Amino acid sequence: MFDFRPAPDCPKPEAYRQLVDAADALTSGEPDPVANMANVAALLWDFLPDLNWAGFYRMIEGELVLGPFMGRPACIRIPLGKGVCGVAAGDAATQLVEDVHAFPGHIACDSETNSELVVPVIRGGDVVAVIDLDSPLKARFDEEDREGIEALAALIAERI
Ligand code: SME
Repeated sequence: MFDFRPAPDCPKPEAYRQLVDAADALTSGEPDPVANMANVAALLWDFLPDLNWAGFYRMIEGELVLGPFMGRPACIRIPLGKGVCGVAAGDAATQLVEDVHAFPGHIACDSETNSELVVPVIRGGDVVAVIDLDSPLKARFDEEDREGIEALAALIAERI
């Protein structure tokens, strides 16, 4: 049985260290990328409060294609440069968006979403996927979330 949730009073940087350790334990030695993305999506969903979507889009032939996730069904293909995910992938740069309604071109898969954190997963200099976290809360994500999810992306880059 896996129970990776942090203590409720755990400071965020420490919680993210635990999350990265848990992702390491779940994916270490497993070569199947879908299995690893599925477990990491489930881990993020379990671990982080106030999310309505957590998962992956994969870079396939120059566009983002939906990967393993937790949450409601979502749009399947996102062109580079479109929406928060497409900008993160196109620019190879994390997008921390406090209010998605103020983000030009935001793709509203779920009208409940108000803030997002999208982190590119980079392998050998190429964006191979993005991790997309959505929240119904405005300004749900901060710099500590960014650092934690970027550490996670670095860990799993060779495993997805
Ligand atoms: N809102 C995202 C699209 C993906 S869904 O939120 C799952 C975006 O604008 O990139």
